[in-house]
Amino acid sequence: MKAIGCKEIGLPDTLVVEDLPSPNAGEGHIVVSVKAAGVNFPDALVIQGKYQHTQSLPFTPGKEIAGVVKEIGAGVTRFKVGDHVCAWLSHGAFAEEVAIKDDFAVARLPEHIAFVPAAAFALVYSTSMHLLADRAKIKPGETLLVLGASGGVGIAAVQLGKLLGARVIACASSQQKLDFCIAHGADAVINYETEDLREAINRLTDKRGVDVICDPVGGKYAEPAVRSMAWGGRYCVVGFAAGAIPKFPLNLMLLKGCTVLGCAFGTNARRHPEQFTANLTRMIDWMDKGELNPVVTACYPLERTPAALQDMLDRKVTGKVVITM
Ligand SMILES: NC(=O)c1ccc[n+]([C@@H]2O[C@H](COP(=O)([O-])OP(=O)(O)OC[C@H]3O[C@@H](n4cnc5c(N)ncnc54)[C@H](OP(=O)(O)O)[C@@H]3O)[C@@H](O)[C@H]2O)c1
Repeated sequence: MKAIGCKEIGLPDTLVVEDLPSPNAGEGHIVVSVKAAGVNFPDALVIQGKYQHTQSLPFTPGKEIAGVVKEIGAGVTRFKVGDHVCAWLSHGAFAEEVAIKDDFAVARLPEHIAFVPAAAFALVYSTSMHLLADRAKIKPGETLLVLGASGGVGIAAVQLGKLLGARVIACASSQQKLDFCIAHGADAVINYETEDLREAINRLTDKRGVDVICDPVGGKYAEPAVRSMAWGGRYCVVGFAAGAIPKFPLNLMLLKGCTVLGCAFGTNARRHPEQFTANLTRMIDWMDKGELNPVVTACYPLERTPAALQDMLDRKVTGKVVITM
């Protein structure tokens, strides 16, 4: 089977396409014939050795898939050959086949849900659902500000925020990205490259401020966003796509009566798998009813995985991109 190999730490152009033996389904495992694999920002970090969880070389990158169960290992009773599944993995998604432990991170999919959108939601949609539902406990009618709103975590937060009843203000760096956010449900938008973020939030909230902030970007936007928080607001730290980890004075928390919430979806899922499963089940149900459609803007064949990762690093990606086998 074909797979993408990371044999040295480096940028996406150091990845290679290789032929590997097909995996076997060991005890408690299933082998999935991968139909599509979602591309995520952490994939671009882990191959550079910049992610919080390092991976020993060589390895196949990629953290989420959708596909068909090809083989069942001893002791597996939840799945049968031919089942459609989606899964969140530590690595190994950018391959034609992958062996996966039968645990909370694999879920059966209704057959009418297409593989491409199904491959694009186990990670970032679970991240945004975790921050909105488990951490911020967002309530209908509250205002949600999403930074980096046209990216993977961001557009998921826009769509899920709307499904959970929030008013959503999306922030991004170009008009094209803002139009994309509006097309996927944002109620209002701010270009944080060209507009003063605080002034724009004041204008859009009648100076009340926002209740919840989803921040997967960090850098220079974090402090003005926190300064624009409503009383009792929740600032969700998700990631640092801009590179710089923001630092701001703690008196802001006092002045705003607000809370800073760390939102590490993966660590939380391992500690509280029941939360991950509840959120995933709820999102699959929304997909089943046609209420949630993960936003995939481009598909790349397996051998073009390095280009997909480089586009993500170059800030060219809107929504999600997916590798198809
Ligand atoms: N905590 C968790 O559990 C968790 C889970 C998944 C991902 N993450 C993290 O969340 C962050 C975003 O992930 P994602 O999948 O949403 O990534 P993404 O699709 O690439 O989106 C990131 C967004 O950040 C903005 N951005 C600002 N400066 C950037 C820069 N220098 N390089 C790239 N993007 C920049 C871009 O929007 P504009 O051009 O509009 O500014 C882009 O749309 C990453 O740091 C990732 O590691 C955390």
